[in-house]
Amino acid sequence: MERTFLMVKPDGVQRGLIGEIVKRFEQKGFQLVGAKLVQISRQQAELHYQEHLGKDFFERLVTFITSGPVFAMVWQGDEIITLSRTMIGKTSALDAAPGTIRGDYAVHTNLNLIHGSDSPASAQREIANFFSEQELISYNKAVQTWI
Ligand code: TYD
Ligand code: MG
Repeated sequence: MERTFLMVKPDGVQRGLIGEIVKRFEQKGFQLVGAKLVQISRQQAELHYQEHLGKDFFERLVTFITSGPVFAMVWQGDEIITLSRTMIGKTSALDAAPGTIRGDYAVHTNLNLIHGSDSPASAQREIANFFSEQELISYNKAVQTWI
């Protein structure tokens, strides 16, 4: 069972898409293990996007992600890192396929609604940047046997 960090970005929160996004991962059969609305600090944002430090879009990205509250989540499930990235869609709105979250709702790469970890190492680092162990809940889900 794998865990990943998913985050509705400020544009998704402002557009009222938290429920729609949560619904998609719930209906896929993944399990929510932690969630909170947070106004992230610049330091936290720089840590979250550390792999992009120095790139031309870094400053704009950090400004955007700290511009309003985000909805931070930890989800778990088999192959969730790969599968959630597929459900999120390509980074650029021009490439994101219909049926994906970005393909259905985003029109701009800068405002692409949701973040999802891209590897187990990123997931571990990103989860730790947002959540303490006590905030993550392990519980049995009856429906799991059917997925
Ligand atoms: P990246 O990790 O490459 O994309 P993803 O969110 O799909 O994992 O980039 C992080 C965010 O940075 C991306 O969601 C939007 C922004 N970004 C730009 O604004 N311009 C760019 O050219 C790229 C690659 C990303
Ligand atoms: Mg990324």
